[in-house]
Amino acid sequence: MKRRGMAAVLALCMLLTGCGARRPTEDASEEAAQDQSILLGFSQLGWESAWRLANSESIKEAAERAGVSLMYENAEQKQDRQIKAIRSFIAYQVDVIAFSPIVETGWDNVLQEAKDAGIPVLTTDRMVETGDESLYAGFIGSDFYTEGLHAGEFLIEKARRENLGELNIVELSGTLDSTPMLQRAEGFRDAIAGQQNLHLIDSMSGDFLRPKGKECMKVLLEKYERIDVLYSHNDAMTLGAIAALEEAGLKPGEDVIIITVDGEQAAIDLLKEGKINCVIECKPQIGDMVMELAQKLAAGEEIPRCTYSEEQVFTEYDADLDSIPPRGY
Ligand code: AHR
Repeated sequence: MKRRGMAAVLALCMLLTGCGARRPTEDASEEAAQDQSILLGFSQLGWESAWRLANSESIKEAAERAGVSLMYENAEQKQDRQIKAIRSFIAYQVDVIAFSPIVETGWDNVLQEAKDAGIPVLTTDRMVETGDESLYAGFIGSDFYTEGLHAGEFLIEKARRENLGELNIVELSGTLDSTPMLQRAEGFRDAIAGQQNLHLIDSMSGDFLRPKGKECMKVLLEKYERIDVLYSHNDAMTLGAIAALEEAGLKPGEDVIIITVDGEQAAIDLLKEGKINCVIECKPQIGDMVMELAQKLAAGEEIPRCTYSEEQVFTEYDADLDSIPPRGY
């Protein structure tokens, strides 16, 4: 949409990924058509899980479908790399910036720079915490607090149905200071508050990573004589923790109740096998909504402050787990 110098356009062409890449053209009509499309700078936080890979694919494929030119950067789990990417988007005068913030705090300066440059910012998947709400236009992603609530509600229901009595719960949490870690923890605690038989005895951060999930579970198994429930903030950590439980001779899903978030195919398969008791869905496929909102922002339109995906809960009590369509991640 914005007019940029030829040097900047040429430099961009080398950086753009996917079929959305623009090339200098001698064809006037093609150039006119290009002027209708927008340039979106997107900073992905990393590739810590199958969920994240699916999210990245969703963004790239949706950009292509929508005819949005995408300048895509992956920060490999480092906040300073996300900040650097956002600064490069500002320098290239993109129409809109979208990013999935690895943590909630520490964005004010770079967001102020985007605002000063007149570039609207959309946060995707995760949120930022700032004293100045005008620094970003809106958020699109999951309602992590409700996911945490659903996890707690499932446990209460299972304890009631099976008359389970006292239960010791351990939590594997995600990246500290990240929105899913904060809200999934809060929702779960709020759900089980007042349940005298449910005891949250420990919480460790496995950083949303499978190997760390396994390491943390090993530490917890050494530390506690009796663990009845594992509440894990994502499937990657859950898969690691299940390996640790099995190596310790325990049966996941029977000796230890397993509640996990995301809904990767691997987790759904383990739910069907009885090794996981409850899977809370978190949808990575938000690309189309991101493009729609980015196009509105580029056109100067207002967008909602919060747009949430619709999500489901899958449990061992569901009548027909075999009818769950392939997850695609
Ligand atoms: O922000 C979404 C979370 O990030 C997903 O639950 C997890 O798998 C990813 O690492």
